[in-house]
Amino acid sequence: MNQKAVLDILPDHVDGTRDFMIFGHFLEHFHRQIYGGVYDPGSHLADENGFRRDVIDALRRIKTPVIRWPGGCFVSAYPWKKGVGQRVPYFDKAWSTEEPNTFGTDEFIAFCREVGAKPFICANAGTGSPEEISDWVEYCNLDIGEWAALRRANGHEIPFKVPYWSIGNENWGRGEMGAKTAEEWARFVHESAKMMKRVDHEIELSVASIPDLDWNAKVLRETGDLLDWVSIHGYWSHSSHEGAFESGYDNIIARAFQPEERIVKVKHILGSLGYLGKLRIAFDEWNLRAWCHPHFIMFGPADHSVMDRNDINSNYNMADAVFTACFLNSCLRHCDVVGMANFSPVVNTVGAIFTHKDGIVLRPTYHVFDLFTNHTFEEVLHSALTSPSFTVEAEDGGSRSVPHLDAVVTRDSASSKVGISLVNLHGGRAIGCRIRGLGSAAYSDVDCPDAVSITTRDVSMGDASDFAVDCPPYSVTVLNLYP
Ligand code: AHR
Repeated sequence: MNQKAVLDILPDHVDGTRDFMIFGHFLEHFHRQIYGGVYDPGSHLADENGFRRDVIDALRRIKTPVIRWPGGCFVSAYPWKKGVGQRVPYFDKAWSTEEPNTFGTDEFIAFCREVGAKPFICANAGTGSPEEISDWVEYCNLDIGEWAALRRANGHEIPFKVPYWSIGNENWGRGEMGAKTAEEWARFVHESAKMMKRVDHEIELSVASIPDLDWNAKVLRETGDLLDWVSIHGYWSHSSHEGAFESGYDNIIARAFQPEERIVKVKHILGSLGYLGKLRIAFDEWNLRAWCHPHFIMFGPADHSVMDRNDINSNYNMADAVFTACFLNSCLRHCDVVGMANFSPVVNTVGAIFTHKDGIVLRPTYHVFDLFTNHTFEEVLHSALTSPSFTVEAEDGGSRSVPHLDAVVTRDSASSKVGISLVNLHGGRAIGCRIRGLGSAAYSDVDCPDAVSITTRDVSMGDASDFAVDCPPYSVTVLNLYP
C-alpha cells in the first residue's frame, strides 16, 4: 500500500436525500429474462403463479424497489391488449422471434407484488398510439370504463394502481419500431401524456430522451409541463456481433465515471430549459455491458446460440462490480436530480442473477446491490475525497487517469448510523483510506445497543511471509492467526 486516500466528512452538511428507487431493475422480453428466467411454470422451483421462488427471494433480499417492464426495444411493437385474457403466441418484430405471450400485464403485476416492488410500465410509443397507451392506463388504474371492465373480467377487481409510466423507449433510434424525429416525438408525447393523465392524473410520467440539448428543447418546450421524469439509458461496453465480450479490466475501468458525465450533462440541459427541480432523471436502463442481440440492425432471424453467449457467467467479473458501485455512487452524488435507475436487466442476459434449472447464480453485480441496499442510508453527507490516481490504457488507445478510490458517505437520519461506500478501482493494489470528521463519540446505549460492536472479517495471508491489514480509524482490531 503506497499513498493513502483521505476522506473528509462534514457531518453537519447534508447534500441531499437519495430516492431508494435508484436501486431499481429492468426486465425485458428478451431471450431467457422472462421465460426460463423469472417465469418458469414448469420448473420445480416455481411457485403457484409460475414465478421462480429463488429469484423472488434474491430480489427481496436486495429490496428491489421498482421494476420497469416490458422493454426495451421489445415494447415498441408490443400489443398489450393481446397480452391479457386469452393469449396466443405472436411474432415479435423487435427481436425477430416468437413471443410465447403467457407473461403479460396481469403476470407482471403479480410478479411485482411477490417481489414487493413498484411496477413501472414502459408504454408502446412505436407501433402504439396515444389512445392505445391511455387504454393501458385505464386497464391498470381505473374503476370505470371498458378496459377496467376487462381487467375485472380477467379476475382483478381492484385496480393495479401502477404509479410510474414511461412514454416509449429509445424512439429516437432508427432501429426502433416507429422511430420518430424530435418534432414528431414532441407531438406524440404531448398527445399521449394528455390522454394518460386524463385517465389517471396521479400517475408519474417519464419520456424517452437522450442527453442532447436540441432534442430536449423541442420535446420539453412542447410538453415538459405534463411530465415528471426524463428517461435516459447507458451501456458502456459492447460485445461483438458474434457475442464476444470485452475482457480487459483497465479499458473498462477507464469508463467508470462516464455515467456521471451523462448525468451532469442532462442535469445542465434540464437547468438550461428551466426544468431543474421539476423533472427528475430516470436512468431507466443501465449496465456496464450492452447485451448481444445479433441481427437487430442487420435483419435476419434471431440467432439464439449467439444470444446464449450473454449467459456465460465468466463474462462478468470484479470490473462489473466496480463499475456498478461507481454508477450507484454517481447517482447518490446527484441525488437532487437522479430519482430512479433501473439495472438492465435483473435476470439472465447481462443481468445480476443467472438462472439455471436447479437454482441461481448471483453475479458480482448482485452483491453490489446487496451492499448498497442493505448498508447505505438515505442522507447523503457532504464529503471531500483526496485520492491518489493511476493511469489506465483505454480502448481507444489513449490513457486515462483514474482515481484509486471513490467514496460516498450516507447516514441514517433516525439512528445516525453511517454507511460509506468505498470503491477501490485498482485491480491489483489495496488502498488505505483515512476518514476524518465523524468524531470518536460512538457509544452503545439502550436504543442503539450495536453502535459499537465487533465485526469479524477474514483476511488471507496468501503465500507471503508478511502481509498488511487495513485498520479503520477509531477501531480496535484483534488479529487471530490460524495455522
Ligand atoms: O440491449 C438492450 C436494449 O438496449 C434494450 O432493449 C434497449 O432499450 C436498449 O437499446
